[in-house]
Amino acid sequence: MHWQASVILVALVTLCLSGVLWSCISAYQVGVGRADSTGPPVEIHFMGYANLKQVGRGLHLRQFARAFVVEDENHKRVAFVSVDAGMMGYGVKREVVKRLQARYGDIYTADNVVISGTHTHSAPGGFLMHLLYDISILGFVPQTFEALVQGCYLSIKRATDNMVDGRIFLSRTTILNVNINRSPTSYLRNPVEERAQYEHDVDKVLTQLRFVDSENTLLGAFNWYAVHPTSMNNTNKLVTSDNMGYASLLLEKEYNTNKVPGKGKFVGAFCSSNLGDVSPNIMGPKCSISGNDCDLLTSKCPQKEGECFASGPGRDMFESTEIIASRLADGALRLLNDNSQETTSREIVGELAYIHQFVDMPNYNGTTYNPLQRKLDKIRGCLPAMGYSFAAGTTDGPGAFSFEQGTITGNAMWNAVRDFIVPPTQEDISCHSPKPILLATGRATFPYEWQPKIVSTQLLKIGDLILAAVPGEFTTMAGRRLRNKISAVAVATGGKDTEVIIAGLSNIYTSYITTPEEYQAQRYEAASTIFGPNTHTIYMDVFEQLTKAMIRGERLPPGPAPPYMNDRMLSMNTGVIFDGHPIGKDFGFVKLQPKKSYQINETVVVTFIAGNPRNNLFPEKTYFAVERKINEERWKVAYTDASWETKFIWERVHLILGFSDIHIHWTIGTNTLPGEYRIRHFGNYKYILGGIFPYEGISNSFLVTED
Ligand SMILES: *[C@@H]1O[C@H](CO)[C@@H](O)[C@H](O)[C@H]1NC(C)=O
Ligand SMILES: *[C@@H]1O[C@H](CO)[C@@H](O)[C@H](O)[C@H]1NC(C)=O
Ligand SMILES: *[C@@H]1O[C@H](CO)[C@@H](O)[C@H](O)[C@H]1NC(C)=O
Repeated sequence: MHWQASVILVALVTLCLSGVLWSCISAYQVGVGRADSTGPPVEIHFMGYANLKQVGRGLHLRQFARAFVVEDENHKRVAFVSVDAGMMGYGVKREVVKRLQARYGDIYTADNVVISGTHTHSAPGGFLMHLLYDISILGFVPQTFEALVQGCYLSIKRATDNMVDGRIFLSRTTILNVNINRSPTSYLRNPVEERAQYEHDVDKVLTQLRFVDSENTLLGAFNWYAVHPTSMNNTNKLVTSDNMGYASLLLEKEYNTNKVPGKGKFVGAFCSSNLGDVSPNIMGPKCSISGNDCDLLTSKCPQKEGECFASGPGRDMFESTEIIASRLADGALRLLNDNSQETTSREIVGELAYIHQFVDMPNYNGTTYNPLQRKLDKIRGCLPAMGYSFAAGTTDGPGAFSFEQGTITGNAMWNAVRDFIVPPTQEDISCHSPKPILLATGRATFPYEWQPKIVSTQLLKIGDLILAAVPGEFTTMAGRRLRNKISAVAVATGGKDTEVIIAGLSNIYTSYITTPEEYQAQRYEAASTIFGPNTHTIYMDVFEQLTKAMIRGERLPPGPAPPYMNDRMLSMNTGVIFDGHPIGKDFGFVKLQPKKSYQINETVVVTFIAGNPRNNLFPEKTYFAVERKINEERWKVAYTDASWETKFIWERVHLILGFSDIHIHWTIGTNTLPGEYRIRHFGNYKYILGGIFPYEGISNSFLVTED
């Protein structure tokens, strides 16, 4: 740099610091973007509850990827994506980065891109590439994988293409009445002094990043809140982004007026955080028949009292989703509308930085301070394994058979089944203790890895904010400890008072991470803490090193890359064979016409002869449109398949002849304009001799009247 330039820069910095020129201290380029990432809506198993009966039969809400990109004056850049998916898999991230590099060169790498899944349990699976996670989906599903990759890629591309001079603000608000702890007895294992620092046994603070351009026009808002998107339970068969996804749509609707869901410039995202033990089913766990409370320790009901599961606050799962989503969206809107700035809203200022490291968890050797014995303990990770209580499921979705949460002794029959698959060694058993091993996934290699051994750990720093991308589901206290640690290390390393956000289920999926104390209780989350009792302690170590190195501007060794397994994927899912239709009634034929007229709150149902929706996922488009008549020539799209008010259910009518129907439902909401409407369906069919062809159908028109 020339000395003149240095002098000018020093002068500018002085002016900045003295507050005279305060807008220059946060000279960022910012961009936000959104893209459709909806997977196959039918015939593919959902990822989340591992319920073999939960196979897609249609669509309620589309899945979207939402991204922001920030660049500072030094041309350092970070990108963050939140996608309506069960979680993130490394295969997906690797492919997204590959496509970004093909387009932008090495501006984007695995180190400065974070992809975080919202954790909806009602979206198609088969994209994780680790056998245990794809097995309940019957293997790898290329169509799900491609939809997620392309959606994430496009969201970053759009954010990049939209970059403008802008500023970023951080604010927080408390939202009560949307989450409860689903393993409260585990939480109680944490030290009493530690628990005394917090009012609740789950985090109730929503943290928001608001992006504006240089004219202060709102571009987007990203919100983090710790809650499972499991308002829709394991009986749901319609693809949906659940409470978090619907909260995003509600927020976007406020700023993208007159746009159908998923369209419009403003991007509003709700992203996952330390939600490991956090349920949205706030009426709590009850026995399904008796209505009594379940046993607190095992989450079981006495015989004849039914199954134990949690629900609420609505009368059914749709209403519960709507209530939770509305409360989340209202919290975010409160922050956006707060002109008084009385909340803790403040501008984010300072340089960007990022750091990433792969860690071989089973081979991790470290030491940690043991406060009880006042000495350094050697710690190591275990080979991945799942405990008995994993099979018990949770009160958000109970498991099969008679497994109980809190199980710390094995059972001869299940041990025999386990050993038939692959037996754990004595060393595995003592490493994971007190977890009784149900599946020694780390020893299984056939036909490829069952669970990851190498994890991704990553930090993005935007000024005095740090986003910690964690490869799984941290419980409430596990997340709090990590946040406090990173913040303290940042300050001690010379950083400013630093805000830390946990970005959950990022980059690669490794199930749960509990605190060592919670691990002892061996409820579901602990049984699914796959690297054993030291899992969390190792992450505390690793993130400490990452924080120090990032703030000092040092480099760390990249660590061993996860194996490439794309060419070995197993799948028992078959593709579409062919579609047929009854003689004389072509694809798009209306089998069930609407009535002549409807009123508010009634539901219109129309049935078309259809092809298989898997023939074309219509990304960024729709399988149907509810259209309102404007004049003799013009109809306007009022609702699409991504609208809350609509659903489609696909029905196989004749397996051998390949006949199927699509039933389109539209519930007429209170704000619907009266007038003349019709429903149009768009589809593709697969011809028996090969080829996929488009078709279309239009229903009779009908009236919507006010009374
Ligand atoms: C799922 O929710 C429906 C109501 O929408 C309810 O009837 C059903 O019992 C619930 N099932 C489970 C397992 O939670
Ligand atoms: C940790 O120690 C084990 C056993 O001594 C060794 O096999 C392994 O390579 C070590 N891991 C690392 C990352 O150094
Ligand atoms: C429609 O249903 C809502 C909610 O149940 C109710 O509040 C409203 O009064 C109903 N509107 C009409 C016109 O029936």
